[in-house]
Amino acid sequence: MGGGIAQVVAASGRRVSLHDSLPGATDRALGAMRTSLEKLVEKGGADPDEVISRIEPVDDFVRADLLIEAAIEDVVVKEEIFRRADEILPRDAVLASNTSSISITKLAAATERPEQVIGMHFFNPVPVLKLVEVVRGLQTSDETTAAVVALAEDLGKVPAEARDFPGFVSNRILMPFLNEAAYALLEGVAEPEAIDTIAKLGFAHPMGPLALADLIGLDTCVAIMEVLHEGLGDPRYAPCPLLRQYVAAGRLGRKSGRGFYEYG
Ligand code: CAA
Repeated sequence: MGGGIAQVVAASGRRVSLHDSLPGATDRALGAMRTSLEKLVEKGGADPDEVISRIEPVDDFVRADLLIEAAIEDVVVKEEIFRRADEILPRDAVLASNTSSISITKLAAATERPEQVIGMHFFNPVPVLKLVEVVRGLQTSDETTAAVVALAEDLGKVPAEARDFPGFVSNRILMPFLNEAAYALLEGVAEPEAIDTIAKLGFAHPMGPLALADLIGLDTCVAIMEVLHEGLGDPRYAPCPLLRQYVAAGRLGRKSGRGFYEYG
């Protein structure tokens, strides 16, 4: 998702520094961006070379005006990123997280600038989906919120504001749906293809819940369910054991080549 976010920000004319601690990840992201940008050219999108030329892979934090963190859904990893960013980025910079569910208030508490910490939650595939869920932490200022809303609009997205509750709005609704689909499979109610066909054709969803879980990443789905379960304290949010089992087996979805389905 970090690559997708970098792509839309660069396509808006801004310069982007792209960092990933995993070796080779930024190269893979640049390759995916080129494929995506080439698809978008036919629809009036910007020149792929021009957009990519605005993106510079970097080995560490740089003194940017805005950080958009898109690391794994692990609060410890994210808190460390926010602590380091707070040390390195200029005092007036905004620190945003693309987290799917982790508390913005908690990430803000790792910094000395909680009023400038905010959730800027994009949706996969980022170049295609229009929504940015803007999540205000307890201390996020009106000024920071207004700046991020204006930025999202300038990126061609539609911002919608949510407060800092577990899963915000998007994953409070989406993730129990995906989790329930995994339970339906576990309990033998239907085969994966039938479950997905029912959602696609019965509810006019662009893809079924199991295919969508594979797109999001089953490890991410489990992490989000854990945040809902712990944060809302209701057993109905417990991650489906089948999801946990697939993750334990390394079946993480599209990114590992296999989840509910196999990918070439
Ligand atoms: N970049 C540019 N264009 C892309 C693209 C990308 N990465 N991915 C797809 N497209 C384009 C395709 O080129 C195609 O364009 P044309 O119509 O001009 O041919 C169009 O989008 C549709 O793509 P496809 O024909 O390949 O397939 P599709 O119709 O099934 O669409 C999809 C694919 C856009 C992924 C669609 O199935 C969809 O919207 N699925 C739901 C995705 C969703 O719900 N995402 C949210 C997940 S939740 C999340 O991200 C956040 C979280 O917190 C977990």
